[in-house]
Amino acid sequence: MFSRKEKPLPVAVLKPGEKIQAENDAASQGILLGQGVYWTPERLPNGHVVAIGASGSGKTQTLKAIAYELHRTYPAMQLVIIDFHGDQNLQGEVCYPLHMSSAYGVNPLYINLDPEGGGPNLQAIAVAATLKKALQMGPVQEGLLLEVLGDCYRHKGITQSDESTWTKAPPNFADLQAEIEQRVKEGCKDSAKLKLKLNATFAYGIFNRPAFLLKHRLVRVDLCKLPPELGAIAAESLAKYLMDTHWLQGEVESKIPRTYLFIDEAKEMAKSPALDRIIADGRKYGLNLVLASQSERHLSADVLGNAATKIVLPVDQVEVKKVAAKFRFAEQKVAALLPLTALCRFGKQAEQVEILPYYQRVAEGGDDA
Ligand SMILES: Nc1ncnc2c1ncn2[C@@H]1O[C@H](COP(=O)(O)OP(=O)(O)O)[C@@H](O)[C@H]1O
Ligand SMILES: [Mg+2]
Repeated sequence: MFSRKEKPLPVAVLKPGEKIQAENDAASQGILLGQGVYWTPERLPNGHVVAIGASGSGKTQTLKAIAYELHRTYPAMQLVIIDFHGDQNLQGEVCYPLHMSSAYGVNPLYINLDPEGGGPNLQAIAVAATLKKALQMGPVQEGLLLEVLGDCYRHKGITQSDESTWTKAPPNFADLQAEIEQRVKEGCKDSAKLKLKLNATFAYGIFNRPAFLLKHRLVRVDLCKLPPELGAIAAESLAKYLMDTHWLQGEVESKIPRTYLFIDEAKEMAKSPALDRIIADGRKYGLNLVLASQSERHLSADVLGNAATKIVLPVDQVEVKKVAAKFRFAEQKVAALLPLTALCRFGKQAEQVEILPYYQRVAEGGDDA
């Protein structure tokens, strides 16, 4: 829900107990979007946000402003920023850059411990589907990949039928590479083709290294040095991991989300099964999504339909008609928008907002951009 009110006065110095109470009070007012308009995710049907806007319209500044304020306002909330362009840096963040020579990795082969929706077989299916989409594999290669992934898990002593094996150290892409190379040596032609397809993925090494832990309150995963298809695999894997782990933690009682996942320039994640799952089920488990893109084509129908907060920044002229229809704003209003001016929907209500950009919120020199 949004509300218009004056900016609250600064809180006086308080004792620890009073401080927590004051923080809860501050949180109940939500966060300032701009011009006296506050956004309070816990009063909306869900806390998901979808933003659309052409290059230079203000998507990045809007997302950074929301992330910055959520981080300041909700002390128990974790923020995970998936950064395809490398420009989402925020004060107070812990950043994991993923590239050829970085020490950090992501392991798409981690195992979801949910007895009904987890285990190595389902993980292998999800990973094979992600690689198929990102690297444009055919059905034969996808089938072979599934078989090889099954062997990788088995060699680690992990089987679908024995749940007690799911907590063993999972294989990673170094194991996948070794397994494929073994098959090539044995003369398997399809494996040779599969190896060719995966060579660049193996060369970057980001899926071969130990995965970093998502333990800090404000984490940015910088994917800008990766080819888009590898960034997409990493992002899909992280999003699925977040949804799986929130599911395992169970439903939240508080209306305040545990975690916010931010994805700017989400083009690479159009038709992402993980994002569709987060949009549908994330709220119950305390996982919310903020997604921005240049075109409505990159946002799935599930994402568009289910996000209670929708932000329309200036879009390309060829997008105006479709965006106006999909976001239910008058065409002339959408066409007349200027950078950092947004038509917003908060549940059933609509409002035009002058966004206060991130660069105007941080202290002088505080933005390490
Ligand atoms: N540090 C800054 N100082 C002044 N203006 C800025 C700064 N960063 C961005 N802007 C301006 O804010 C507007 C929105 O930029 P941005 O959020 O990066 O757009 P988008 O992400 O949609 O491409 C642009 O007009 C840009 O020139
Ligand atoms: Mg941007």
